[in-house]
Order: sequence, then structure tokens, then C-alpha cells
Amino acid sequence: MTVYSEKSKIGDAIAKLKSEGLSVGMVPTMGALHEGHLQLVKKAIAENDKAVVSIFVNPTQFDNKEDLEKYPRTLESDVALLKTVSETDILVYAPAVRDIYGDNPVSENFDFDGLEFEMEGRFRSGHFDGVGTIVKRLFQIVKPNKGYFGEKDFQQLQIIRKLVEKHDLPVQIVGCKIHREANGLAMSSRNTRLTPEHKNASPFIYKTLKTAKAKFGTKSATKITEWVENQFKAHDLLELEYFIIADVETLKPIKRKSRKKKYRAFIATYAGDIRLIDNIALN
Ligand code: PAJ
Repeated sequence: MTVYSEKSKIGDAIAKLKSEGLSVGMVPTMGALHEGHLQLVKKAIAENDKAVVSIFVNPTQFDNKEDLEKYPRTLESDVALLKTVSETDILVYAPAVRDIYGDNPVSENFDFDGLEFEMEGRFRSGHFDGVGTIVKRLFQIVKPNKGYFGEKDFQQLQIIRKLVEKHDLPVQIVGCKIHREANGLAMSSRNTRLTPEHKNASPFIYKTLKTAKAKFGTKSATKITEWVENQFKAHDLLELEYFIIADVETLKPIKRKSRKKKYRAFIATYAGDIRLIDNIALN
């Protein structure tokens, strides 16, 4: 497995693969890889001849300098983990900030038709401009046939689809199911930072989402939202930031249920100072 750190070098390697008629699937990541990331990589390998995994802690998507500095950088163990998936079919692109941004790590401004102002966008200003900037650049460098993104970050997935549509990028976006711990907690590099107490409490998030889904057939979104808010008010260890039932296309909170539309429930909670997000398809 080759680890590339320069865009020109990985660009050449990919041009060679393409000239041999091989297809490339790309999995953009920020490293600190876990089984959830590996599911995306496995799908990319199953559906393409080669997979490119980028590992890059993107400074422009962090609204908080401390979060950026604290983000784990574990390239060596990430590469070891990727080798357990395949020694031969994965190329790693792990650039330095300069290789991507030169001297000037700033975001482009995007218009994602309002998707960027919902949910995470309300709590993390500039975040999706940063995500759009890095993913667009990675796609320009790697030119993958397909790009793989997790439903764990469903809003991000929809924003990437919008990015591709609006900028006419020649890549097919593939959404991948949320990978969970055995107890239901959505896998995340942050989970390792939970205290044992919070770790024990955290399956409550998915359990609540599943009950909300069961209620969706008969109860209104307002009633379900009230119920969820009360569940968290009564909980000692988990603090609710938001619970929203939204249309998957617009990400706007549901007004009146329509049979023709697809809905998801989205949640963000704090377990101590660790912020956890999750979501579930409702219909
Ligand atoms: P990161 O948080 O490293 O996630 C990389 C990809 O893995 C994303 O598409 C994310 O949705 C997916 N993923 C993470 N945990 C998952 C889980 N439990 N189940 C399924 N998929 C999961 O998301 C980013 O990095 C960045 O914003 C990035 C897109 C790389 C741009 O910098």
C-alpha cells in the first residue's frame, strides 16, 4: 500500500490506473479510522478496481481552533488498519495542509440551496463551506468515479450530493449505512473519549431514535419531538441539543406528513463535553 503526500504524485498514479481502464472509488476521511470508516472502504473496493482513502484533518471546516488542534492524528495506525482490509487495492492520500491549500487555508463560499443552514449548520458556522471546499479539491485531485460518504453525517452527505450537482462534478456519490457498536451507539472517533459512565448511557440515543420511528406511523412530529425532549430532560447524563424530524431532500423540519416524501429523525446530544450525533430513516 502506497501512502502519497503530494497531489502531483497521487494524480500521476491515478492517471496511470485510469489509462489501464481501472475504476477508482474515493473515501474522504479525517483519519482516526474505525470500523465505520472501514465499511465505506470495503464498499469502495467491492464496487471499483481501486479505492483511494484520503486522510486529512481539514482546517477550514473547524469553527473552533482547539477542536482542530485536539483532533487525533494517527496516520500509522490508520494505515495498519487499512492494510487489514487490503494490501493491494488501496491508495492512501495523506497530504499536509500546504499541499491542499498552499499558504492560505480558507474556504470557498458555497450556496447549497439552504441545506447548509439547517441542523449542524445552525451550530457550526462556516463548517459546510469548509467541507465543500475540501471535498471539491479532493475530487479534482483524485477524479474518482465514485465517492463514498456515511449516512452518519447525513446532512454532509446531502450537501456533497448538492455540491456535485451544482458544480457538475463527474463523480457518483454513494451513501453508506451507519455502522454501530453492538449496543447501538453510532461509531465515531469521539466515542473513545467518553467516560465509562457516559459510554454506558450513550445507547439511549439510538434507543430513543428507534422508539421515535415506531411512533412515526401514528403520532405527529410535534408530539414525537415533545416526547423525545422529555426523555432527555429526565436523563441525568445526556443533554439534548436538538431533535428534528426533517424531509431528507430539504432537511427542513417536517410540516405536514406526505406519503411521497422521505423523512428522517436527527439528533445531537452532549455526553459530558462530547457531542454525539445520530439519525434514523422514518419511512
Ligand atoms: P470523518 O469524520 O473522518 O468521516 C469520514 C467518512 O466516514 C464520512 O463520510 C462519515 O460520514 C463516515 N463515517 C464516520 N463514522 C461512520 C459510521 N459510524 N458509519 C458510517 N459512516 C461513518 O466526515 C468527515 O470525516 C469530513 O467532514 C470529510 C468528508 C472527510 C471532509 O473533511
